[in-house]
Amino acid sequence: MTSLQKTIAILAGDGIGPEIMAQALKVLNAIETVFGYQFTYEYGAIGGAGIDESGVPLPEKTLKLAQSADAVLLGAVGGPQYDTLEPSIRPEQGLLQIRKALGLYANLRPVKAYEALLHASTLKPEVLRGVDMLVVRELTGGLYFGEPKWRTDDEAVDTMRYTRAEIERIAHVAFKAAQQRRGKVISVDKANVLKTSQLWRDVVEGVAKCYPTVELSHLYVDNAAMQLILNPQPMDVVLTENMFGDILSDEASMLTGSLGMLPSASLNASLDGSIGLYEPSHGSAPTLAGKDIANPIAQILSVAMMLTYSFNALEAAKAIEDAVDTVLSQGLRTADIAEADSPVVGTTAMGDAIAASVLSNAKVTA
Ligand code: NAD
Ligand code: IPM
Ligand code: MN
Repeated sequence: MTSLQKTIAILAGDGIGPEIMAQALKVLNAIETVFGYQFTYEYGAIGGAGIDESGVPLPEKTLKLAQSADAVLLGAVGGPQYDTLEPSIRPEQGLLQIRKALGLYANLRPVKAYEALLHASTLKPEVLRGVDMLVVRELTGGLYFGEPKWRTDDEAVDTMRYTRAEIERIAHVAFKAAQQRRGKVISVDKANVLKTSQLWRDVVEGVAKCYPTVELSHLYVDNAAMQLILNPQPMDVVLTENMFGDILSDEASMLTGSLGMLPSASLNASLDGSIGLYEPSHGSAPTLAGKDIANPIAQILSVAMMLTYSFNALEAAKAIEDAVDTVLSQGLRTADIAEADSPVVGTTAMGDAIAASVLSNAKVTA
């Protein structure tokens, strides 16, 4: 047995963040028991919780804690009570700041259709069956960060800017991921209109030459949004810039049945396990908060991504993925993935069941 010892920064954030984080920690504790690992948790405030604690969405001590940890596990940020704040100190800025400060330019959002959930989506099961794609979203550039950025009462400006270096490094992440998967990259852009997309396409073509076994194709983002629900099954790696990736990944989540199923990893080096931040792709779902009804699976699968990318603990990651498979196959459903009139379980019960499954699967294989 390996004696993996890691310190994890736990930034639960706002809304459903703390509830789903509690489930993720249960599952991590089960992993410690089964694999003999030792995790130390260091708790920090981010988003609205940071504003409440220190007046800013990313308090200095939270950033220090994240920088000194081996990995960061994040819940979600934001809530209606903060929406009227001055934009530079809104909760969402905490998320953008921590991504930028840690250099987390590569955001991986795996989208997998579970056989047990084929009927949970609004889309037809035959469209969803076999879907297994990875959205590779550039995370520290583009419209979110480009300068100048300003507004007056009558005019506002955001700037879309990309450099060759920024595009090259995210393209390498996508091609490397495709080499480990089905060998296909679809690069999504708006090269028929945008200068940044024209550069994007040229640079991606150049990077593709380093990966002769990977097949590259291009889609304009409007067409990509349509193809995602028309015929998603052939899609393998979908590479795209920051805002397109934000939008397309929420859309793609419906291929899994719910946004509550979609984990993510944000990395600062290509797939080789240096610092990473792991969070669900969804937000703080304020209307669900405090009711024990949110789906914790995106948060729990984000733990599996942390074990994979930051700790190279592949067996442990698989134990979590298998446990999620098991409880879904047993018919456990939170409200968002339940079919009409079917019984549902709450956030806590789903977390308990997945943690219990990690423990009992281990007994079976021991
Ligand atoms: P959201 O992702 O919170 O919710 C979108 C929809 O999905 C809602 O109907 C919600 O109920 C549902 N949903 C989301 N997560 C779910 C889960 N785990 N289980 C079941 N259903 C789930 O997006 P929104 O409503 O546009 O934004 C709410 C707040 O979250 C805003 O303040 C926004 O800025 C913030 N936000 C934060 C993040 C993040 O922290 N990474 C991401 C997106 C939005
Ligand atoms: C996400 C969120 C964030 C983003 C917001 C809250 C800043 O939507 O992680 O997808 O746009 O990146
Ligand atoms: Mn988003």
